[in-house]
Amino acid sequence: MDTQRLAGRKALITGGAQGMGAAIAVHWAAQGAAVCVADLNEEGVAQVAADIRAAGGQATHFKLDVTDEDQTKAAVAHVVKEFGEINLLLNNAGVNKPTIFPNTPKENYDFIMGVNAWGAFNVMKQVSQQMIDQGPSKDFPGKIINVGSILSREAFLDVIPYSMSKHAVLGLIKGGAKALVDHNITVNGYGPGVVRTELWEQLDKDLVEIGMFEKQGQSMDSLAANMILMKRYSFPEDVVGTASFLASAESDYMTGQLIMIDGGMVLH
Ligand SMILES: NC(=O)c1ccc[n+]([C@@H]2O[C@H](COP(=O)([O-])OP(=O)(O)OC[C@H]3O[C@@H](n4cnc5c(N)ncnc54)[C@H](O)[C@@H]3O)[C@@H](O)[C@H]2O)c1
Repeated sequence: MDTQRLAGRKALITGGAQGMGAAIAVHWAAQGAAVCVADLNEEGVAQVAADIRAAGGQATHFKLDVTDEDQTKAAVAHVVKEFGEINLLLNNAGVNKPTIFPNTPKENYDFIMGVNAWGAFNVMKQVSQQMIDQGPSKDFPGKIINVGSILSREAFLDVIPYSMSKHAVLGLIKGGAKALVDHNITVNGYGPGVVRTELWEQLDKDLVEIGMFEKQGQSMDSLAANMILMKRYSFPEDVVGTASFLASAESDYMTGQLIMIDGGMVLH
C-alpha cells in the first residue's frame, strides 16, 4: 500500500475530539492528509491536532457546533485559510440517548435529529458549496464521507430518533451523490455497528438506566453474542481502513454508497 496515499488531501473532520473521528484523523494524517479536526470539545481537538503535529503530520483544529450555520461557515473558512482549499469531508459528529418509545420526549428527538441529521446536512451543504466555488481540482475529485450506522438500515425500539437520524444520513448520501456528481464530488459513507468509544460507554450506562439491561458492560457483550456474526464488538481501529479507502483514489468510481462495518449485523 502507498503509505502516502492521502497526500494532497485537505480534510475537515467533524466530531474529531475522540472516538472514531480522532482515530481517523490520526490515520489520515499519517497517510499524508492535512486534517482540521473540529468539535464542540475544543480542548479535545486541540490535543488531537497537537498529537498529529508532534508525529510529523499536518493538522489544525476548530471549535465547532455542527448545528450552527455561522460556526460551520467559519470552520470551512478556517480550513481554506490553513490549507488553501478543502477536498475531503468526514461528516462524523454524532450523538445518541436511548429512550423507550413512546416515552420519548420531543427534546430527545430534537437533540438527536438536530446533530445527526440537520448537523450533517448543514456541514455537507457548506463544504459542498466551498468545493464548488473553488472549482474541481485537477488532481482529486472532492470526497464527502457521511457517517451512518447499522441503524441507517435497521431500527431498535430504544433508539428510534437515532435510527431516524441515521436513515436521514442515507438520504443525504444518495441525494448528495446525485446533486454533486457534475461537480466532480463523490458522496459515500459507512455504517459502524457496535464500536467501543465514549459514545458507547455512555450508551451502555443509559441502557441500564432505562431498564434495557441489568448491569453495565452487558449491552455490548450481549449484542456481540446474539447479533454480531463475528461474535465481537469493534474498536475505532476496525473502522479506519474503510474510512481511508473512501478518502483515497481507490474509491474514485464509487458514489451514493453506504458500506457497513459491523462484523455482520445488518446484511442488507
Ligand atoms: N460508537 C458506535 O457504536 C457507533 C455506531 C454506529 C455509528 N456511530 C457514529 O459514529 C460517529 C462517531 O461516533 P463515536 O462513537 O466515535 O462517538 P464519540 O462520542 O466518541 O465522538 C463523537 C464526537 O462528536 C462530538 N459532537 C457531538 N455533538 C457535536 C456537535 N453538535 N458539534 C460538533 N461536535 C459534536 C462529540 O463532542 C464527540 O467528540 C457518530 O456519528 C456516531 O453516531 C457510532
